[in-house]
Amino acid sequence: MRFRLLDLPYPARLAVGAFCVLLLAFHVSAQATLWAQAGGGSMPSTQEVLWKYHGNPARTKLHEVLDLSLPRSSPRAMFWYLDPQATPDSLETVEARRAVVLDWVAAGAPRFGWEPVRQVLQEQGLCRECHGAGKEMARVPLDTYEDVVKVARPGRGMLPGVLLVSAHNHLFAFAVAALLLGVLTALSGVRRFVASALVLAAFAGAAIDVGGWFLTAAAGDPWQKVVVLGGASFGLATTLMALLVLDEVALGGWFAKRLRIARPVGERDAA
Ligand code: HEC
Repeated sequence: MRFRLLDLPYPARLAVGAFCVLLLAFHVSAQATLWAQAGGGSMPSTQEVLWKYHGNPARTKLHEVLDLSLPRSSPRAMFWYLDPQATPDSLETVEARRAVVLDWVAAGAPRFGWEPVRQVLQEQGLCRECHGAGKEMARVPLDTYEDVVKVARPGRGMLPGVLLVSAHNHLFAFAVAALLLGVLTALSGVRRFVASALVLAAFAGAAIDVGGWFLTAAAGDPWQKVVVLGGASFGLATTLMALLVLDEVALGGWFAKRLRIARPVGERDAA
């Protein structure tokens, strides 16, 4: 007889099961965050992944927040503040003022064209209610020409320092999650080759995902697809492992048997 998770004392199985439930909840909330923040109400496309890491030369911060296709509820939708009276059915004023700003950006944000833009942002619009000194968004001030030029520059993507910190944090978390779930899956009643494939998909997926960030930041298209592929591989593999481990400790491998991926009784352990 070989040791199985199923043989653990009840409190240990409870702990393993609760761990998997929380990890699954973590996955769901991570997807929801992506959906709400990065995708602005839909899942981010590979295009958005490209822009995040590599930047989009044709799209400045002002383009992003004055994008009329953003849902009204998006925390990044700033165009409403161009016209305090705007409603979803009367966006004419917003559109006209937005054109003043974006035409100026398209012209290279010259100092001599600043005055009409200043009027739109500061006199007609409410931008400084939050982007002024001492206000909620004082870290992105919109007080002077120099301030506004900073959000009128082409996107540069993620800066190397930010990227490194993100890689540092994520790699550790990815490695710990893949290790714990991998060992637990290997100790369940699931067939060896299934467990091995999932372990490989989780670790390789994490490495490919994070490696892809750097390649996308440096070289742009088409490396963003590698990011998506790696992320999907890690996410799918860890989700499946969590479900299989949960199946093991809660149901004694009921689903694994139905799915025909349970180790047959008496199967010899490979050395
Ligand atoms: C009610 C407060 C408020 C008002 C009014 C407001 N903003 Fe914002 N702004 C925010 C907040 C909060 C964020 C951060 C949103 C986020 O990224 O989640 C933000 C983000 C931005 C950003 C992106 C900054 C970055 O570095 O990512 C720009 C550009 C911006 N606002 C421009 C404007 C403009 C232009 C106006 C006026 C038309 C305006 N904002 C009016 C609160 C406000």
